[in-house]
Amino acid sequence: MAEYTHVLATPPEGVAADWTIDQHWDRYSAEDHATWDTLFARQAKLLPGRASDAWLKGLGVLKLDRPGIPDFRALSDRLMALTGWQVVAVPGLVPDDVFFDHMANRRFVAGNFIRRPDQLDYLEEPDVFHDVFGHVPMLADPVFADYLAAYGRGGQRALGLGALKYLSRLYWYTVEFGLVAEPEGLRIYGAGIVSSYSESRFALDDLSPDRLMLDLARVMRTEYRIDDFQQNYFVIPSFDELLRLTVETDFAPLYETLKALPDIPVATVVEGDVVLNRGTQDYARRRDG
Ligand code: PHE
Ligand code: FE
Repeated sequence: MAEYTHVLATPPEGVAADWTIDQHWDRYSAEDHATWDTLFARQAKLLPGRASDAWLKGLGVLKLDRPGIPDFRALSDRLMALTGWQVVAVPGLVPDDVFFDHMANRRFVAGNFIRRPDQLDYLEEPDVFHDVFGHVPMLADPVFADYLAAYGRGGQRALGLGALKYLSRLYWYTVEFGLVAEPEGLRIYGAGIVSSYSESRFALDDLSPDRLMLDLARVMRTEYRIDDFQQNYFVIPSFDELLRLTVETDFAPLYETLKALPDIPVATVVEGDVVLNRGTQDYARRRDG
């Protein structure tokens, strides 16, 4: 999920200049496909009534419910027809400029490897289950599809402005860990949550985390942890509103304002927050207790 850290500066041997590789779908073993099916079955049971309408619809129209690891070629054909996006394989984390260039051009980069059967619940790098099951359904939604492409262009701009720290937090608290207010209640759209068995319950049901309405400047000041459940979630009223807000705001002056302000630690409520649920923040104590 931490798409912004990377190890290599140039593509390793056998990797194209744009860092893409062949998915080599035919090289997956029966065990690989079985791992996908196990993860899929577990999440599919949990997510109706929890995942956002857009995510659930995307899963269906993209036929991601067919058994086995999806073939990116067929998946890209469907996605292209719906929103102009494609899914391309990369060997792992790629440099920021490469990541943003693909995104701005509606190419979603996905790892082609799948976790081992003993890593069902936790892994450090995004694999094909997180990337495809978690992220790709949202790309079938025309509004979210536009948001992510705009984010890619925003990323290129933020790199030039030395403001990636701020923009990355927006990605984290929307694309990876976002919640949306639907008429029936809060729903998950963040890929880091929908692809996680335990967090897809924690994010909605647990009393520990704070759930706040998303404010752009506030989110961009907020730290995050990559190694545990989130201690605060940010809620958007709708994808239309997220797109409108982010596209209509010029981030350059906002970055300058933020550079003069302190970061906000996780699990903190500050003046101006619209609080939906003030968390008990007792999760860490329960975990360690
Ligand atoms: N409006 C942002 C900018 O001025 C770009 C952006 C759009 C960023 C959508 C994120 C999401 O840089
Ligand atoms: Fe991710």
